[in-house]
Amino acid sequence: MTHTRPAAVMILAAGAGTRMKSATPKVLHEIAGRSLVGHALHAAGTLDPERVVVVVRHERERVAAHIESHAPHALLADQDDIPGTGRAVFCGLSALDATAIAAQVAAGAVGDTSVMETQVEGAIVVTSGDVPLVDGELLAGLVEAHAAHAAAVTVLTAEVPDPTGYGRIVRDEAGEVVAIVEQKDATDDQRAIREINAGIYVFDAAHLRRALAQLGQDNSQGEMYLTDVIHLARAEGGHTHAHIAPHAAAVEGVNDRVQLAAAGRALNDRIVETWMREGVTIVDPATTWIDADVQLAPDSTLLPGTQLHGATEIATGASIGPDTTLTDVQVGAGATVTRTHGSGAVIEAGATVGPFAFLRPGTRLGVDGKIGAFVETKNARIGDHSKVPHLSYVGDATIGEYTNIGAATIFVNYDGVNKHHTTVGDHVRIGSDNQLIAPVTIGDGAYTGAGATVRRDVPSGALARNHVPQQVVDGWVVSRRPGSSSAKAAQQASADAESAPSPESEPPTHPDER
Ligand code: UD1
Ligand code: CA
Repeated sequence: MTHTRPAAVMILAAGAGTRMKSATPKVLHEIAGRSLVGHALHAAGTLDPERVVVVVRHERERVAAHIESHAPHALLADQDDIPGTGRAVFCGLSALDATAIAAQVAAGAVGDTSVMETQVEGAIVVTSGDVPLVDGELLAGLVEAHAAHAAAVTVLTAEVPDPTGYGRIVRDEAGEVVAIVEQKDATDDQRAIREINAGIYVFDAAHLRRALAQLGQDNSQGEMYLTDVIHLARAEGGHTHAHIAPHAAAVEGVNDRVQLAAAGRALNDRIVETWMREGVTIVDPATTWIDADVQLAPDSTLLPGTQLHGATEIATGASIGPDTTLTDVQVGAGATVTRTHGSGAVIEAGATVGPFAFLRPGTRLGVDGKIGAFVETKNARIGDHSKVPHLSYVGDATIGEYTNIGAATIFVNYDGVNKHHTTVGDHVRIGSDNQLIAPVTIGDGAYTGAGATVRRDVPSGALARNHVPQQVVDGWVVSRRPGSSSAKAAQQASADAESAPSPESEPPTHPDER
């Protein structure tokens, strides 16, 4: 397909979106980790237009701030008080023409007349901020059809089972599009038409400019209808072409939350299928959710109940899930992440995580490292080949290579007011059930005993232990818990011991007494 570069793509996003019943503007609601208007901007960008303009009005500041942060190159056009899609496009086109004039002035054009004559020329694509399933491929097909037919207007249409609410495509005997009639203005015969206006068009700028100037508000909604451009362009001899969408579902708009969920499901189905065709094993597409910007390498595997969000990247051979949610997480080649909730983390190649791990932002697990069951990490750099296998909290820490953190160890990082850092060296063995009270540093090759509370730095190669010797109070249970099941068990045990032959050797001493 040859590429025809449109002069501009205009995205209409000024409407109120009342049916969402939301404090959030409709076009800022998200599917697949991207706002609805973000999907429109993304599709627009793939056409490589000279300009992108977004028409705003409702919740102007919030929508504008979102567009400025996600698409800083896009031009914002403010719609005035006059309602309707036709007025929205008029305002968008005026903004485009104004920048064309400004560009001409900046380029040093001379004389007011030549400046005033500078207007946008060529193909202008108009789309909506609420049709997130329309992708660049569909828009490119529309642009090509427009060029191929040398049309004044090309409208994207679709045959749908239930056309209720949409504008209907009215054709003459020759099959030419003669008008678009809104549901509210349609006759019974027109309402029976199942070919609908998707609300996405390509216009020749000059025809559009002339038609917009003639738009009235004489219709049931008292709005300036963009759809009236069709018969106005024909009246002056322009050719109007209808391009039928290959998949009708792709043009469905989002007006309420039911349609939002349906569009989200449809987009996810498309994303999941794309990745499977790229060589990713997805065991259960129905329970796997992948955001639009996630990257997956071939021969990675996603198990059921996996959700990958944001800028998550999964390398080849990695296995994710089941029941795992990762947001902005990088997973290296061959790593395994099982029943884990993670965000803002890096898991290097060959590492294993979970089950039941909670990785919070700033976690970095080195090559072949391990974060095991019931472990929470935050702002923690864990070196290559190091392991935090069980029941631990590692917050604000740097751990070297080949180090093992014993079960149930807590990095005590918070003194109630401030957070402090713990540094653990290479080849360290932290005993089970330790508390490492930050700020504290443990040198390379050091050991700590089980149950240690480490408050002072431990030099390289040293052993830190600080527990008191175990006390044994003989007969305590029988005297202090008389009649309890424990006391009865103890009494039975001593009765059994009395009737048994006495052992030859001493019982082994407990390590505490050594
Ligand atoms: C519009 C079309 C209809 C088509 C349908 C497809 C018209 C008159 N009707 O109807 O033929 O079948 O889309 O979904 O165009 N907007 C503005 N400013 C406004 C009004 C709307 O920017 O004053 C924007 C909205 O934010 C939205 C888009 O234009 O992104 C469409 O507006 P909407 O009110 O949803 O139009 P429909 O009634 O659905
Ligand atoms: Ca709509």
